[in-house]
Amino acid sequence: MAIVSSISENISLAALAIESGQLVAFPTETVYGLGANALDGVAVATIFAAKQRPRFNPLIVHVSDLTEASRYALINAAAEKLAEAFWPGPLSLVLPRRPECAISSLVSAGLDSIAFRSPAHGIARHLLAATGLPIAAPSANRAGRISPTSAEDVEAELGDIPAMILNGGPCLLGLESTVVRLAHGTAEVLRLGALPREEIEAALGETLCRPDAATNAAHASPGQLASHYAPEARLRLGAAQAEAGEALLAFGPETPRFAGPTINLSPSGDLKEAAANLFAALRRLDRTGAATIAVMPIPAHGLGEAINDRLSRAAAER
Ligand code: TXA
Ligand code: MG
Repeated sequence: MAIVSSISENISLAALAIESGQLVAFPTETVYGLGANALDGVAVATIFAAKQRPRFNPLIVHVSDLTEASRYALINAAAEKLAEAFWPGPLSLVLPRRPECAISSLVSAGLDSIAFRSPAHGIARHLLAATGLPIAAPSANRAGRISPTSAEDVEAELGDIPAMILNGGPCLLGLESTVVRLAHGTAEVLRLGALPREEIEAALGETLCRPDAATNAAHASPGQLASHYAPEARLRLGAAQAEAGEALLAFGPETPRFAGPTINLSPSGDLKEAAANLFAALRRLDRTGAATIAVMPIPAHGLGEAINDRLSRAAAER
């Protein structure tokens, strides 16, 4: 079967698959990615087809470090500062393409920029080192659905579309990277994510611009469509309690009495734990067949900002 453990022999096989234009799913500390050689336009096109991803939505390119990114994009002082502080880690930097950039223009979906990320996960790093290539990898789910945080979730989403699924167990962070654009002399958050906005602002020494979620961001970061991360069930946010027939996504020590299917994202009220559990919990509650998932309020600070962003997109009308 396509899911394999991540002993070094399998990483070598995965590297060969990437080099020959095939797709490989691999774990990162945020979510699992569906990777292809970013220099190979046909391989990149295969990602869009596999995910049924709209062609206007650009991909993140995974690199070992900022030096590798600098072969393809223009690096400024803010990029150096942020990479120094947070790479490898859950931060993607959108940078202007160099005119002679060898990365497939399909990756950028027609924009004059590329999003780069240097992942911290050991398997992702081994794969990058073994290929020596920049690896384009969106989250390994079908377009518009919940990102996978385990090898089994990838298989449920994509079946045997990837040549291999490297199994690294559950993802440590469980939310996608924070995407920051440094392309126009300003620093803007295009997508909230696993690195809290406050930490980026502290490292930069400035406040990040936040394009209006509904309008600008849809242009700046085309992946930010209102309805995204969608389970089958409807979501009812800010619920004080759950009704009969619903499922309950709880948070914190004080939860309502409820006999139906319940998952507590973090009984101790820890936002990091809640982020790590969020997508797997939504998938599990969705599988109970409940028509509605009642979601208790989540605090809005720190990682709570990204958790609430994902929940409101999952709850959006579709
Ligand atoms: O944590 C993550 O970032 C994961 C793992 C696998 O690295 N990847 C991921 O990729 O979430 P994806 O394709 O699901 O989301 C990429 C996001 C989208 O919102 C996309 O619009 C935005 O990054 N993006 C990519 N390139 C961009 C660019 N050049 N300009 C603006 N936004 C860009
Ligand atoms: Mg995605």
